[in-house]
Amino acid sequence: MDQDSQTFTDDDSALVYDLENPWDPDWPADRFYSDAVAAAEAVLDVGCGTGSMLHAARAAGHTGRLVGVDPDESMLARARRRTDIEWVRATAAEMAYAEEFDLAVMASNAFQCFATDEDLRASLAAIRRALVGGGTFVFGTRHLQGRAWEEWNPSNAGNLTLPDGREIRGWYQVERVDGPRVTFTETTALPDGAPLRVSGTTLRFHIPETLNPFLEEAGFRIQDQYGDWKRGPLTADSREIITVARAQ
Ligand SMILES: C[S@@+](CC[C@H](N)C(=O)[O-])C[C@H]1O[C@@H](n2cnc3c(N)ncnc32)[C@H](O)[C@@H]1O
Repeated sequence: MDQDSQTFTDDDSALVYDLENPWDPDWPADRFYSDAVAAAEAVLDVGCGTGSMLHAARAAGHTGRLVGVDPDESMLARARRRTDIEWVRATAAEMAYAEEFDLAVMASNAFQCFATDEDLRASLAAIRRALVGGGTFVFGTRHLQGRAWEEWNPSNAGNLTLPDGREIRGWYQVERVDGPRVTFTETTALPDGAPLRVSGTTLRFHIPETLNPFLEEAGFRIQDQYGDWKRGPLTADSREIITVARAQ
C-alpha cells in the first residue's frame, strides 16, 4: 500500500488490540479468569473489549448466560463476531442489571479505566447491583508500587504487520503522573515514525489501602487478594492486586 495514503481507524485499533492481546489460557492471568468463568452459570464481563474471554468460554463449552459490556463500539464490533453471547454498549456505571449474575469479571486491568472517585463508586454500585447476593466479582489492577508506566515510553516502541500487509509502529508516552492517575498517549505510526493516530487515556493505579474501602462501601466483602496470578500473597514487591470479592 502507498504509505502516503495509509490511514488507521478505530476498527484498525481494535484489530491491533486483538493481535497483541490474544486470549491464552496457558497464561496465568487468562487461566485465572477462565477458571472463574467456567465455574459460574451467568457471567458479566465488564469492559469486555473485543470479547475474547467470553469467546473462549463459549468455545470451551460454557452453556450459561454470557454478557459482555463495553463503551467502545469498535472493540464491540469484533466481539459481535460471536452471536451466541449478549454484547451491550455501555459504561459500567450505565449498566442497569439487577441480581442477574453470579460472577462479574474485569480482565486485563479494565478496572483501571475508572479514574475518578465518582466513576469508581458508580461503576462498583452497578456491578454490585448486577450480582446476586453472594455473587463474586473478580478483577485485577496494576499495583501503584510497581510503577508500570515507567516502561511506557518511545524507547519500547514495537513494529507490527497487519493481516492486510500494512506495517505499523506503536509506542506509549506518559504525559502526566498525578498521584495514582497516569495520563498517557498511544501513538500508531508508519514504520518511519510518521504518526497515523494518537489517542489519550488516563488510568488509575491502586494500593489495597485505598482500593478496599471503595469495595466495602459498594457492598462487597473481600474474600481473597493476591499479588500475582498464581495466587501468591500481596507483598511490598507485588506489581498486581488481584481481588476476589463477594457481594454481601
Ligand atoms: C485493556 S481493555 C480490556 C479488554 C478486555 N477486558 C480484555 O481482557 O481484553 C479495557 C476496556 O475497558 C473499556 N472501558 C473503558 N472505560 C470503561 C468504563 N467506564 N466501563 C466499562 N468499560 C470501560 C475499554 O473500552 C476497553 O475495551
